Amino acid sequence: MPEVLIRGGTIVDEQGERRGDVLVSGVGIVAVDSTIDAPAGAAVVDAGGCIVAPGLVDLHTHLREPGAEVAETVETGCRAASLGGYTAVVAMPNTEPAIDNPSIARDVLELGRNALAQVAVAAAITVGRQGVHLTPMAELAALGIHLFTDDGAGVQDASLMRQALEYAGDLGIVLAQHCQDDSLAAGGHMHEGAWSSRLGIAGQPALAEESMLARDLALVRLTRSPMHFLHLSTAGSVELVRRAKAEGLPVTAEVTPHHLSLTHAEVASYDSAFKVNPPLREEADVEALRVGLEQGVIDAVATDHAPHAPEKKQVPFDEAPPGMLGLETALAVVSSAMSGRLGWVDIFAACSWRPARIGRLDPASGGRQGGPVAPGAAANLVVFDPTAEWSVDPSRLASRSRNTPYAGRQLTGKVRHTLLEGEPVVIDGEAQR
Ligand code: DOR
Repeated sequence: MPEVLIRGGTIVDEQGERRGDVLVSGVGIVAVDSTIDAPAGAAVVDAGGCIVAPGLVDLHTHLREPGAEVAETVETGCRAASLGGYTAVVAMPNTEPAIDNPSIARDVLELGRNALAQVAVAAAITVGRQGVHLTPMAELAALGIHLFTDDGAGVQDASLMRQALEYAGDLGIVLAQHCQDDSLAAGGHMHEGAWSSRLGIAGQPALAEESMLARDLALVRLTRSPMHFLHLSTAGSVELVRRAKAEGLPVTAEVTPHHLSLTHAEVASYDSAFKVNPPLREEADVEALRVGLEQGVIDAVATDHAPHAPEKKQVPFDEAPPGMLGLETALAVVSSAMSGRLGWVDIFAACSWRPARIGRLDPASGGRQGGPVAPGAAANLVVFDPTAEWSVDPSRLASRSRNTPYAGRQLTGKVRHTLLEGEPVVIDGEAQR
């Protein structure tokens, strides 16, 4: 691989922000300086007006393989990831069959080996995500799997969840919960509130999320095992996590770009692109999530990229599966939603090195994600133009599916280049393979 000189950008990593050029050789960064002369034969990529940062890390990606390759594959999902500036994704286990045993986990890891982003795997907590029997967690952990979740569903049985937490503590792994009490949420297709009443669509209350979160926080208090909370969506959830952290409980939490930017009012269009689980909530929830991210109560942004084939989504709202694309629009949406509240270091903290740590993909855990941008570090990098304006054209997305909630919208901020292990996999907004 030729050397690559990233010229003229503003470097953003955990150390802060500074102007500089970055020279990449092989899979690593070899020099960072205010100006670097291009070595003979080096490819020069322009970062003028751009931020050069550690590649983004998504803790929550549905790659749909095996089982729903018509909606996405590891290959297409990772291409979408790289175009969104992600250099690593954690593949969710709600595939068909579920990633609930070492053989399927190995298959997905193998599919990811030559993809345009590093693929880590989250394994299911229960066999078939049925909520009844625990998966062989020790065998799965032995493959290096760190996150376990039944995402798409919450583990309803408190006693089973307690047992899973006890094993997780012993194994040094982390359970990631989709907080949803089915007895409260069942039958709800959107947030229960003014819009669900007006539209005549059955809603699910904020309490469906908050009651399971409260239960799980109590289980963490009991077991002292760490836990991660997926896609929190309500003001009440932010408050519960705030108090849990103040108390010193070992918990982390994520928020999606869509819950930071959209409300349940979107459902007035009856467009199933706005159907998602947990559902889009109220203005006050969006505001609380933004404040939660600003204050570090919420640690990370995660996309919950959930592709669904067009024929699955082009049905009446209450028949459509929940889920939205997220990878290709996330950084623009988040940086706009948090503009004036978070500086660039904090934006990338939430999208890169904090999720890298939660997923144990960071250098301190033996991984290669999340920076720093410094000699000796892995060349997993994103070059982001924060002022570029673009309009989201679903037909031009790399994902196999089209279910973006931002179709036709004007976004500010676009990924210009992405480097994966030193390889320029996206150049000038185009995937290179
Ligand atoms: O909207 C969602 N879609 N939420 C989930 O938790 C699962 C996901 C999916 O897999 O489609």
